[in-house]
Amino acid sequence: MKKVEAMTVVSQRTIANNIYECSLKGDLVSVMNEPGQFVHLKVTDGIEPTLRRPISICSVDTNERTFTMVYRVEGIGTKKLSHKLPGERVNVLGPLGHGFPMEELKSESHCLLVGGGIGVPPLYELAKQLTSKGHSVTAVLGFRSKEDVFYEREFSRLGPTFVATEDGSYGEMGFVTDVIGAKQLTGDCYYACGPRPMLKAIESNMPIPGFLSLEERMGCGIGACLACVCDMKNEAGYRKVCSDGPVFKAGEVVV
Ligand SMILES: Cc1cc2nc3c(=O)[nH]c(=O)nc-3n(C[C@H](O)[C@H](O)[C@H](O)COP(=O)(O)OP(=O)(O)OC[C@H]3O[C@@H](n4cnc5c(N)ncnc54)[C@H](O)[C@@H]3O)c2cc1C
Ligand code: FES
Repeated sequence: MKKVEAMTVVSQRTIANNIYECSLKGDLVSVMNEPGQFVHLKVTDGIEPTLRRPISICSVDTNERTFTMVYRVEGIGTKKLSHKLPGERVNVLGPLGHGFPMEELKSESHCLLVGGGIGVPPLYELAKQLTSKGHSVTAVLGFRSKEDVFYEREFSRLGPTFVATEDGSYGEMGFVTDVIGAKQLTGDCYYACGPRPMLKAIESNMPIPGFLSLEERMGCGIGACLACVCDMKNEAGYRKVCSDGPVFKAGEVVV
């Protein structure tokens, strides 16, 4: 059930190199119940930028009517978002897309959560919901360097958590796939979100069923403009990342 609301900024802070955590308050939170969904943000009342910006829902607090986003400042849109102060409004369209499915999990499943960089945030709400349903989680979080690391403590509260940095300045040296191999991490299924090369490597190396969350450049965010299409893997046709995804079963689309 997607809606538009001018939500109020409750907090905004830097949590790692160029990474911001922002909480917004409003009624939309009551329909944010599927981890892995995203919001489409209009970050200004002015003209630039005209297009909304897609950001994942990282964490939801229904009692407080707040949700949290964690984002990296990339260009004009995220820069403007990072300047928003508590009390200011952000126009939010959402929640959008299909998130991480949990219905088919057998009871007390063990799930491996694999996140890379700004792919980590949507896995946090997933970890919260999985553990509250009686499943267990192990998280593997990959970053470039020590100063890019965030949310290690938050994930550690929910299950064993491993951090990999490409330059070895913190945690294990290498990629998330190196850590998974070295520690022989596995589970009943996996959920992954991060850069394409990471998703590709995981999809081809993991022998268990899994789900991948994709990122594409977006226009409308609601399935109308076809800006975000990706190809199907084993049949002709395409899927729209914004409305069929962003989460797909591993093997369904070309990553
Ligand atoms: C479903 C989804 C969830 C996302 N969740 C997060 C998140 O939780 N945290 C986070 O930091 N980032 C996330 N992103 C990426 C984020 O949308 C881009 O970093 C952001 O749109 C860049 O906008 P900008 O104006 O700062 O940069 P600019 O470079 O000025 O953007 C120009 C245009 O490119 C688009 N664009 C640029 N990079 C991306 C990208 N990687 N993916 C999609 N569109 C892009 C913008 O929407 C805009 O239309 C997500 C993307 C998608 C598709
Ligand atoms: S962004 Fe318009 S169809 Fe996906």
